[in-house]
Amino acid sequence: TGTEPPQQRPGGVHGPSRAAITARHLRTDRWWLSPAGTAAGLLAFIAYSTWRAFADDHYYAAPYVSPFYSPCLAENCQTMRGGPNLDLFGSWWGLSPALLILVFPLGFRLTCYYYRKAYYRGFWASPPACAVAEPHASYTGETRFPLVLQNLHRYFFYAAVPVAGILTYDTVLTFRDEHYAWGHMGLGTLVFLANIVLIWAYTLSCHSCRHIMGGRLRHFSRHPVRYRLWGWVSRLNARHMQLAWASLISVALCDFYVYLLATGTITDPRIF
Ligand code: FES
Repeated sequence: TGTEPPQQRPGGVHGPSRAAITARHLRTDRWWLSPAGTAAGLLAFIAYSTWRAFADDHYYAAPYVSPFYSPCLAENCQTMRGGPNLDLFGSWWGLSPALLILVFPLGFRLTCYYYRKAYYRGFWASPPACAVAEPHASYTGETRFPLVLQNLHRYFFYAAVPVAGILTYDTVLTFRDEHYAWGHMGLGTLVFLANIVLIWAYTLSCHSCRHIMGGRLRHFSRHPVRYRLWGWVSRLNARHMQLAWASLISVALCDFYVYLLATGTITDPRIF
């Protein structure tokens, strides 16, 4: 907590201000398991979502629209008829409509405090684990380009909220059948419900959200509503990592369910 960040000296952990320990670390447990597992999980999601985002097909099976493609903002959307669609982009947009919208949830997750920890450890080894020195010679934190852009997280939070709202709308629409008549519930409805609960739980458990609710207050007693909201968000916030993974898996499963329906691999079991 001094005035000068200790690792900004040249030499990183081998700088003159650090203890002279030659071993790279003194840990004897399998510390690499966690960053390796994290990297594998994130890579699997990146591979899957990249394939699906560029596929530009099989993302709509009435009444279900894949969360990767919602809201569908181009004229080439398959969801035009009866589906949730907003043709902001005209016919000039010829690429996959997922590319128009995924930048927001992607930016939200990429700049998320938890995901930062996950990929700094898993991919950059900066540091790979607690008490394991990073291989880099110097440390500038998030003070320079491009990592200074991590500060945009709060704005991505503002974008993530309406996206979650639209996914909620999509979930409501799953209570219609394939002819757009209300009063339907299929297995897909349950898949969408589980996904949207996890998406909201992850979004609201965001550290920026917690700060918006209760940050910069001198006296909680003078702001009972914000204090209560802050308390709720804080409880969720304690589970932010678990919610980050659960919602990542659920959104991929939700998309895969739509893919299976749209390709005719399965039919949606009807509950009523
Ligand atoms: Fe993870 Fe905001 S800190 S979503």
